[in-house]
Amino acid sequence: MSATDAQTSSREYVFTTRWFELNAKNLWDRLIPQVNPRKILEIGSFEGASACYMIDKLGPNHALELHCVDNWEGGIEHQNRALDMSATEQRFHDNISRAIAASPNPVDLVIHKAYSDQALAKLLTEGKAGYFDFIYVDGSHQAPDVLYDAVVGFKLLRIGGTMAFDDYLWSDQQAKSKDPIRMPKPAIDAFVNLNLRKLQQLNAPSIQLYIQKIAD
Ligand SMILES: C[S@@+](CC[C@H](N)C(=O)[O-])C[C@H]1O[C@@H](n2cnc3c(N)ncnc32)[C@H](O)[C@@H]1O
Repeated sequence: MSATDAQTSSREYVFTTRWFELNAKNLWDRLIPQVNPRKILEIGSFEGASACYMIDKLGPNHALELHCVDNWEGGIEHQNRALDMSATEQRFHDNISRAIAASPNPVDLVIHKAYSDQALAKLLTEGKAGYFDFIYVDGSHQAPDVLYDAVVGFKLLRIGGTMAFDDYLWSDQQAKSKDPIRMPKPAIDAFVNLNLRKLQQLNAPSIQLYIQKIAD
């Protein structure tokens, strides 16, 4: 176990799912130090696993401004899983407080408890076009919502910034057959295809998808 792993586990985070660990962590161990973002927007925070990871990884390097967007209502795909989203939200606050307390550099945390369409529109009207170094799209997994998060998120991303999409290949197991409305892939594909001249797709295994903005 590395020194960083030991410090992280001693913080006693409480996570009830392993989504981040299984989908992202291995890739992010390489990606996040390379991107080394200071201004981060996360769409979909749940109980804070990905947000705490970024604070643990980047907090030793420099100050951070981290915006977390979540309505803490769960996605449509969570509706039959009897998730207690109030408890999830409380765990987010507990976990993120631990991460911030342990960070050597200041973390300016801005929590947007809202639907992402409202929160992202507000950030744009506040003048934050081209502001963020890294945007993680992991909120609603419904194609129309993902398309909105991608398009408006891209406006908020600076040139040279990186955007990551979780669950590129996910589909709702509750649907009898694959329903293109209830999966991120058609939305991410449409976004990438229509912005081909403004981004480059980064080389990575396809459970997540990464792009870098190269033009407005
Ligand atoms: C997959 S979880 C995020 C996991 C988190 N990024 C991690 O790795 O630990 C998705 C989150 O998005 C939130 N969400 C779903 N639809 C949303 C929407 N339209 N606006 C804002 N948040 C939404 C849910 O409440 C849920 O907490």
